[in-house]
Amino acid sequence: PLTNPKEMFAAAYAGGYAVGAFNVNNMEIIQGIMNAASEEKSPVILQVSSGARKYAGQDYIMKLVDAALDVDASVPVAVHLDHGPSFEMCRDCIDGGFTSVMIDGSHLPFEENIALTKQVVEYAHPRGVWVEAELGKLAGIEEHVQSDEHVYTDPAEAVEFVERTGCDSLAIAIGTSHGAYKFKGEAKLDFDRLEAISKKLPDYPLVLHGASSVPQEFVALCNKYGGNVGGAKGVPEDMLRKAAGMGVCKINVDTDIRLAVTACIRQYLAEHPEEFDPRSYLKPAREAVKKMVAHKIRNVMGSSGKA
Ligand code: G3H
Ligand code: 13P
Ligand code: ZN
Ligand code: NA
Repeated sequence: PLTNPKEMFAAAYAGGYAVGAFNVNNMEIIQGIMNAASEEKSPVILQVSSGARKYAGQDYIMKLVDAALDVDASVPVAVHLDHGPSFEMCRDCIDGGFTSVMIDGSHLPFEENIALTKQVVEYAHPRGVWVEAELGKLAGIEEHVQSDEHVYTDPAEAVEFVERTGCDSLAIAIGTSHGAYKFKGEAKLDFDRLEAISKKLPDYPLVLHGASSVPQEFVALCNKYGGNVGGAKGVPEDMLRKAAGMGVCKINVDTDIRLAVTACIRQYLAEHPEEFDPRSYLKPAREAVKKMVAHKIRNVMGSSGKA
């Protein structure tokens, strides 16, 4: 059933695992993720970015999710707005049936981030909707803001932010970043900082964005069949598992799904040049999403069998 993620996170916190939050943009991606979650008997979060709302339309996405739950309601599912840029967009999603929203004020000065987050919390909570906020900046492109350097989350500020806003979960910056190019040299996360934040916020769910691992076999497949994805590097899976045992209850994955879909379609079309029925390549692409998500659920999140 469609649920507020509160209980998913309480169980994940206590059990030292995480719930995967996977970005959705179309029917095949939703089906692939839902089939994986159902097979793994895992709770799951379907997250919708403002770009996804623009591409597919909020109503289309919500009705696809409803359809998925009509077909199989065996695992708890939350629908979440990813990187909500404004109060108004959060409000539209809450009114449209989302069970969780992120208000991303991470680019704002501290006090303005607090004020904006508080405004969303005041609208969301009476309506039973969860609110994720963000403090600190991820390197790379964070929505419209290009930040060249990480501004890691300060543990004392995190406590003040949570107390003053009443937000339900907090996305933190400890060295991850969005997209396929996360590290120039060796992958490194600031686990001391994560531990400090987690110690100061006991029983509080933290969120890790930019958590794709960028599997090199998929990069290689893309490149083998005409792609040009050079120098891509992600977060090693063992680091994500470690974070999941340290108060991180939600781990966001988009890039790895994109890579799986694109590698699969490139390969299919290269090997079947005569084919032009979109179903011929979207079907294996949907299967590739399912395989990727099932792998994440089982080997990265640790949420198999927790539904
Ligand atoms: O954090 C961003 C997500 O990967 C969504 O990306 O805004 O291109 O849909 P998008
Ligand atoms: P990746 O780009 O690492 O998949 O991160 C996705 C994300 O954080 C969505 O909010
Ligand atoms: Zn993100
Ligand atoms: Na956890």
